[in-house]
Order: sequence, then structure tokens, then C-alpha cells
Amino acid sequence: MIDLRSDTVTKPTQAMRDAMAVAEVGDDVYGEDPTVIRLQELAAKMLGKEAGLFVVSGTMGNQVAIMTHTQRGDELITEAESHIFYYEVGDIAALSGVQARQVPGKRGIMDPDDVNHAIRDSSNIHFPRTSLIALENTHNRGGGKVWPIEYVREIAGIAHERGIAVHMDGARIFNASVASGIAPDVWASYADSVMFCLSKGLCAPVGSMLVGSRDFIDRARKNRKRLGGGLRQAGILAAAGIVALETMVDRLAEDHANAKLLADELARLGYGSDPAEAETNMAMVDVSVSGKDALSFVQLVKEKGVLCNAVTPTTVRLVTHHDVTTQQCREAVQAFKSLL
Ligand SMILES: Cc1ncc(COP(=O)(O)O)c(C=O)c1O
Repeated sequence: MIDLRSDTVTKPTQAMRDAMAVAEVGDDVYGEDPTVIRLQELAAKMLGKEAGLFVVSGTMGNQVAIMTHTQRGDELITEAESHIFYYEVGDIAALSGVQARQVPGKRGIMDPDDVNHAIRDSSNIHFPRTSLIALENTHNRGGGKVWPIEYVREIAGIAHERGIAVHMDGARIFNASVASGIAPDVWASYADSVMFCLSKGLCAPVGSMLVGSRDFIDRARKNRKRLGGGLRQAGILAAAGIVALETMVDRLAEDHANAKLLADELARLGYGSDPAEAETNMAMVDVSVSGKDALSFVQLVKEKGVLCNAVTPTTVRLVTHHDVTTQQCREAVQAFKSLL
């Protein structure tokens, strides 16, 4: 099968498996796992922050960040289609007791004016306190859209002037960085905390990182423990994360080229897809031309050997990654062609 459902399906590389086999470990709840410590220091350095924290998943990283930045009853501003709002099982309410102020964006990008208007005046007795603004870069439901950096700068300026923290859900921050040529620490400089995933395009089997100031990470570590995320000999996993950060970032450009190829070829066949919008490792494809809705299309194309996900009633999402080759992308195009 040609698996274009997500970059989360990537398997660890041989170099990762080798590093895992010989990883030095210790009890990380005691702060004694040398490999976890090394990964956390590397992550913090790459993102230009004081400290890092290894967490089991992107969801845990986002939620630990939200729990650390907010108090119960606060309001969090987030884009209406953001992962934090859309796909994290209502965690912001269930775990942190926070409500979401959803700002609709264009492909996940919020207009700074809209964000500004959404901030509450907490001197009004009726209003919750806006304590956090979350930005998703790249934006998943926005088809891997990279934020315009000037919007990030502007929103961060508005937030910080009003004492509001900024969290970046940078699950795919390295895709944003490779596509834009803007270094990860420059993106991160506008945010008080950044979560990014080791287990997506970077191919590590498990894990994400949360980075921020030393004080923030100390408090986040306690919240991670509260959520049951205090790990023991986690160096086994961290070893793969180090290989991911040291060797798997630059090659993301190949995934981006493959996504562009898919968007291009499918547009040529008459599918609704805009190559200019395939900025990173995703192509969003409107399959209406096939006469099928997206869910039926996914079933039919599966019979031709291609896996993908429906993300709206008419759109499927194709995600490129290390474990699909350019040749397989061309074969996927042929499978789509056969359904016209
Ligand atoms: C933008 C974004 N944030 C967070 C996550 C959550 O990551 P995880 O699946 O590791 O919990 C994802 C997962 O796809 C994502 O796309």
C-alpha cells in the first residue's frame, strides 16, 4: 500500500533502531536519564529556548503547555480548525478547565486584527481572562500551510503587550522552517512555548518536545507528571529523537517536492488541487470531479493500493513522508486517474 494518510505512519530508521539499542538510560522522573537530558538540551538549543521537556505525544505537549500557561475559567484564543480545538478530545476543557475562543482563519491563518478583537477586557466582571493565544505552524487542516512570519510577529506583539502568552503548536515546525527558509529558533522567538513532534515527518517512533523558559519547563514538568507522563528509562525513546533532530530535518524538502508533484499532477487530471497551496508535505484534493464524495473515494482508491484520509465531505488529504517515494507518488496519481 502507498500510505498517504499521515506522516505519523513513518517507521523509525535503522539508525534510530541502532541508537535505541545502545541508549544510556536512567530514571527520568529522578532527572537521571542522560539520553533524555541530551535530547531536551538539543531541542531547546535548536529552538533557541532555555529548556526542553520530552513528552509522549503532540497532544500531551500542547495540553501540558495549556495547563501551564492558564488557570481554570480562562479563555484561550485558537484558530477554529486548529488541532488543539478540533482533534484533542476536548482536553482544554476536560484537563485545564479552559474555554476556547475560536477565531476563523484562512487555511488556519488568523488575521491579527481578528485576534486583537477576540481578546477580552478582563476588567469587565462578566468576562473570562484571555491568558493564551495558540498558533499552529504548519497548520494541519489548513493543508500544511506555513504562517506568514509577519502575522506571527504582529500577534505576538499584541499578546505580549497585554500580558498574554503565545504557544506555538509546531508539530511540524521543521516543515515550516524548511519550506520558508526561516530558522526554527526565529519562529520560536515569537512564542513563549513551542511544541514540536519527533514522531511525524522526522520518523521517530514516539515523542514530542515542549520548549520554553526554564521556569516554564519546570512548571510544565510537574503538569506532565500530573497527567501520568513521568517516564522512567525513556532514553530508549529519546535516542531515536536525537537521530531525528540530527539527521532527518533537511530531507523534509523531498517530502515537500513530492506533495507539490501530487498537487500538480492531480490538478492536471482535473481534480481540485492547487499546487501553490502544497507548501509543505500535504496536498488537499477536492475529488468532486470523480462523482464520488470523499469518504467513498477513500474506499475506492484504497482498492487501488492508495491510502488517504477524507477531511471534508469533498476533500481528501495526501501527506508525503520518508516512507513514500517519488515513484510511489506517481503511482498514486495513476490510481486517482483510474477513478475518473
Ligand atoms: C498540528 C498538530 N498538532 C498536534 C498533533 C498531535 O500529535 P500526536 O498525534 O502526537 O498527539 C498533531 C497530530 O497530527 C498535529 O497535526
